Amino acid sequence: MPERKRSGPPLAVLTAADYPTARLLDEAGVDLILVGDSLGMVVLGLPDTTGVTMEMMLHHTAAVRRGVKRAPVIADLPFHSYETPDMALANARRLVDAGADAVKLEGGAGFVPQVAAIVQAGIPFVGHIGMLPQSVREEGGYKKKGKTPEQGRQLLEDAIALDQAGAAAIVLESIVPQVAAEITQAVNASTIGIGAGADTDGQVLVTHDLVGAFPWFRPPFAKARAEIAGEILRAAREYVLGLRGEDGG
Ligand code: KIV
Repeated sequence: MPERKRSGPPLAVLTAADYPTARLLDEAGVDLILVGDSLGMVVLGLPDTTGVTMEMMLHHTAAVRRGVKRAPVIADLPFHSYETPDMALANARRLVDAGADAVKLEGGAGFVPQVAAIVQAGIPFVGHIGMLPQSVREEGGYKKKGKTPEQGRQLLEDAIALDQAGAAAIVLESIVPQVAAEITQAVNASTIGIGAGADTDGQVLVTHDLVGAFPWFRPPFAKARAEIAGEILRAAREYVLGLRGEDGG
């Protein structure tokens, strides 16, 4: 896993769920490729990530692996796949067998036994704290984290616990920028922010948001640098009209 702690340019991280996207991201020089369980929403049309299964993650991790030669591939452990240390390790091994170089799970200090089991088995581990999409139903929505001093302290404690358990990197999702910056100063692991301000060691985006491929929802912090959905609509409409002889040509 590449490290950019306090030196060099920020780590550029993007998600992939299929072979062509993974191959293009790798060729573009992305530092890390994440097979995120957000694929449940942006690829599979599920309402949130809680319906994503190990089988889905294995299927997409294998496709991404086939497209990537250079960048390390991180795969998400999906909801309910890491309830005990044994379960976390067994499922982490399955993701590695499918082609992942590292695995990620959502949660802080309460998951240190799972993290320790994974790290002690020699599998590089990435943490994920702040807004946790797998907890969206319990929490009743996607909410910014670290707004109160207690929340900020808890996040810092969680980050330090993951760091001490051996996390190579920690995703900080939808965290107040000042808290994300404090965490970045406090841990050895590289922090990778999403909706957490600029003062982290890297940034991650869902590629569908970056390229405008999921026009029905885009988080406010995600700047689209292309409008792929519009291009697909245009090409498909042209094709339909052309076959019907209605394209005026
Ligand atoms: O599933 C995912 O894509 C993620 C990123 C949003 C960090 O976990």
